[in-house]
This record gives sequence, structure tokens and C-alpha cells, in this order.
Amino acid sequence: MIDIKSAWEELHRRIESCTKCELCNTRHCTVPGEGPIDSRVVIIGEGPGQEEDESGKPFVGKAGRLLTDILEKGGGIDRRSLYITNMVKCRPPANRNPKPEEISACRDFLEAQLLLIHPDIVVTMGNVPTQPLLNTKQGITSLRGQWQDWRGIKLFPMFHPSYLLRNESKAVGSPRYLMWQDVKELKAEIDKLKN
Ligand code: URA
Repeated sequence: MIDIKSAWEELHRRIESCTKCELCNTRHCTVPGEGPIDSRVVIIGEGPGQEEDESGKPFVGKAGRLLTDILEKGGGIDRRSLYITNMVKCRPPANRNPKPEEISACRDFLEAQLLLIHPDIVVTMGNVPTQPLLNTKQGITSLRGQWQDWRGIKLFPMFHPSYLLRNESKAVGSPRYLMWQDVKELKAEIDKLKN
């Protein structure tokens, strides 16, 4: 029988000691993810920023605070009930997008996390996690809010909160407006799990 706890700890050790791409040269901390291992929902961002790199925890900076707010005020979702992680586990310098080779190097870690947690719902925020998992070049603007499938698990693409920080309008059809709609759709799907 697979011992999930040992497999999880071993995975974390592999992430901490990883040197598969050049991000290991500039990182302070690896940021594997945070949340209950038996969570039914996993949220995936792009990669750690400065505060995440310093603390080892995902989404603790400005984008993270906005994410917490959107989840709680928009959907009544407590972020502590979710497992939150990123496509890459080490900070890309100057917060640039991770390069394709960095995503490829880290992808096994993310897939191993998803297979061990085995959530009912995976939320990908922005193009960085959405395109590789769905194996598509389609952009987040057309994919967001549309349920997809990842190996039998429901996958829901949404905008990344950093995108909303650059777009403050709340007008009908704006990214913030659409994000609000998406988080309500996500909550409705989470509520169905409880039945
Ligand atoms: N942006 C991300 O994509 N992930 C984090 O952990 C923080 C900011």
C-alpha cells in the first residue's frame, strides 16, 4: 500500500534539493505549496515572487492578499481549506515568467502533488499553469471560466491576481468583473461536492 505521508515528505525533500534548472542558483527558499494534503481543491499560480521566496510560502505578497480577498469576499471560500501551489517552485528572477525549460523541469513535481492530493477541482491562474496542463496555446482570456479536464479531474482556468493588480477597473466585462463571476462559479462547484 502507498504511504501518502511518506511519499509527500519524500516529494518535499526532492523539491528542496532540486537543481534541475537555473532557478536553483538564485532562490532563497523553495516554495512547494501550502494547505491540507486532503484538500478537494488545488489552486495553481505561476511561481513564487520575492516575499514567497523569502518565506517559503505561496501567495503571501500583494497578489496573494488579493487572491485571499477574492476567494473570501467573492466566493466565501476560506483559502486555508485549499491547497495552494505554483507551476514552478522557485522564484524566477525579477518576477519574470518562468521559461519553458523551467516549467518542464518542475512539471513532475506539480503532477506528483496533484496525484497524491487527488483533488476534485484544480484551478489554474493565468497562462503559465493553464497552457502546459491543458497542452494548449490558447490564451487565458478565452479559456477562463470554462471547465476543462485534466486526467479525469475538473480543471477551471481563471485570471491570475497579478493581472487584476494591473487592471483596476470593475466595469462590466473587465478582468475584475469576470474574476468575480468565476469565483462564484467555482464556489457553486465546490458546494456541489459537499452534497
Ligand atoms: N504569484 C504567483 O503566481 N505565485 C505566488 O506564490 C505569488 C505570486
